Amino acid sequence: MLNLSPAHYRQRRRRVMHRMAEGVMVIATAPEVIRNRDSHYPYRPDSHFWWLSGFGEPEAVVVLLAGRRPRHYLFCRAKDPEREVWEGFRWGPKAARTAFGFDAAWPIDQLDRRLPDLLADQPALHTLFGIDPAWDARVVGWLNAVRARERSGISAPEVLVDATAILDEMRLIKDAAEVDLMRRAADISASAHRRAMQACRPGMHEYQVEAELLHEFRRHGADAPAYPAIVAGGDNTCVLHYVANDRPLRDGDLLLIDAGAEYRGYAGDITRTFPVNGRFGGAQKAAYEVVLAAQAAAIAEARPGRPWHAPHDTAVRVLTEGMKELKLLKGTVDGLIESGAYRRFYMHRTGHWLGLDVHDVGDYKVDGEWRPLQPGMALTVEPGLYIRPGPGVPRGLENIGIRIEDDVLVTETGCEVLTAAAPKAVAEIEEVMRGDR
Ligand code: GLY
Ligand code: MN
Ligand code: MN
Repeated sequence: MLNLSPAHYRQRRRRVMHRMAEGVMVIATAPEVIRNRDSHYPYRPDSHFWWLSGFGEPEAVVVLLAGRRPRHYLFCRAKDPEREVWEGFRWGPKAARTAFGFDAAWPIDQLDRRLPDLLADQPALHTLFGIDPAWDARVVGWLNAVRARERSGISAPEVLVDATAILDEMRLIKDAAEVDLMRRAADISASAHRRAMQACRPGMHEYQVEAELLHEFRRHGADAPAYPAIVAGGDNTCVLHYVANDRPLRDGDLLLIDAGAEYRGYAGDITRTFPVNGRFGGAQKAAYEVVLAAQAAAIAEARPGRPWHAPHDTAVRVLTEGMKELKLLKGTVDGLIESGAYRRFYMHRTGHWLGLDVHDVGDYKVDGEWRPLQPGMALTVEPGLYIRPGPGVPRGLENIGIRIEDDVLVTETGCEVLTAAAPKAVAEIEEVMRGDR
């Protein structure tokens, strides 16, 4: 599906070529992957390729020629009426060229023949190295094919550039059209969390709550979950990457759900934690309020000019204060932070970039310093507290795992919480679970 207009993609590719200044960039989409025997995993294009092209079919390659006369080309599958009877519509190069705004398009089986010509006399080749060994070998094959012509005066690219240097940086700053898609991914994800809260009852299995999430995603046109949903009840709330989702939900336990929809390629990523029976117990509430306060303080740090790590440092401080109040730790807050003692109950970072990939591209440090946040950056803010039973853990707090995660867009003046529609305050969650909202 074409997410944005062809003019938008043309403009985007022109900006890439402007940054390259000279040379050729060659970016392939992701391969189809067999799940078992002759069944495939649902197809998902490579994010760099998709961002550059908007083109969703497998077996496709974008070629950008920078320089005084920038040109951009697409290689894709040829039309094939017989295969289309079985597998559905294919664009074919002719229609794809116009629909996706390329200067020219050719069948993918001409790639090896045409690439050496396109690389001839070019100073640099930008591509993605080390992801697919077959691709690396193919790139070397093209280079050698150009080198074989050196005696006729043709030179091969001497500079090989990792294309992530340019693409990661550009993808890090979302444009207005991308923000619209991210808002939609966030809205769908938020309504799925609300639905899960409304559906949850003691005695259900985790997968039954997961089914509510998936139903809501697809009902609103999401492509798929952006990553495997974590639906973790009771002691599973303390397993950070729990995905089995197969246990019964018990009265009195908490349920932690980390799930987000992918909408036209863009990921939502929300975590909510709530009581299976709809009412927080005393210890659960006390721990929850600590994480909620840490998240609010961290979100307040997500604004232009603040360094990437500011939300994390703030969250760690508020969480550590809370750990003291909950009598999980003893000592001074500074000492507990400095020694890393807080990591027993909070062992992950407070967020990541968000976009086409749930853990999106972009450096977190520049020239050795945490990079300042800028308008157009999208990130998650996701502090947590995970209390496994052990020495010194007060009764009532064991097996309480809480994470609260929202998606945030940095704006000119601060930030916009894209996922604010997912219920989060204790009273609001309890109301939603009672059916009052
Ligand atoms: N759901 C993946 C994450 O929160 O980072
Ligand atoms: Mn998450
Ligand atoms: Mn996340």
